Amino acid sequence: MTITVVDHPLVQHKLSLMRDRETGTANFRRLLREIAMLLGYEVTRDLPLEKRHIETPLAGTEAPFIEGKKLVVVPILRAGLGLADGLLELMPQARVGHVGLYRDPETRAAVEYYCKLPEDIADRLVVVCDPMLATANSAIAAVDLLKRAGAPRIKFMCLLAAPEGVRAFTEVHPDVPLWTAAIDRKLDDHAYILPGLGDAGDRLYGTK
Ligand code: PRP
Ligand code: URA
Repeated sequence: MTITVVDHPLVQHKLSLMRDRETGTANFRRLLREIAMLLGYEVTRDLPLEKRHIETPLAGTEAPFIEGKKLVVVPILRAGLGLADGLLELMPQARVGHVGLYRDPETRAAVEYYCKLPEDIADRLVVVCDPMLATANSAIAAVDLLKRAGAPRIKFMCLLAAPEGVRAFTEVHPDVPLWTAAIDRKLDDHAYILPGLGDAGDRLYGTK
């Protein structure tokens, strides 16, 4: 298992602003998009390159380009959309799959309500994104679903993780590396991350 905590000062500063209860929807959304780009930079660090011939205004040269098919960004609805927006600014040609899951408030099980994935997912690297890894039930269910759909290589990117969620996720999917901006203290009695930032979807979209 690999877990990378992206402790870059820009990421940490922006995350602190997002945690603050006084930060409103517009700023929360902008900050999440910005952090997604910074995390995305790390998540894509090992993409293979191939040389192709180009002509600059002065000379021909063999220049590096990302090899292979464009990757697939898969946000877990809803809050994952906020991270996907940033990743797509970084990689505008990426394909996008959508997985709709919500947490049952009683059992905390992930309930699937939507799934639309590119047909050729078996040929592509998949980056699943969701700001919150709490119990990890949603992340585990999303990765289960993607593996069943034939995705051979999956990475998971979140903003905040609880230690309980990291343990659960890496136990079930040790082959899926994880990137996060922070691992917080613990889950509260309602399986919210402490200190966390509250309900990511509600803060992103201004709902309750
Ligand atoms: C939140 C969050 C994750 C999930 C994390 O979504 O965006 O998907 O909870 O919790 P877990 O690790 O315990 O599964 P939520 O179910 O509230 O749906 P929403 O994004 O539509 O608000
Ligand atoms: N989902 C959220 O949006 N926040 C948490 O703290 C836990 C799950």
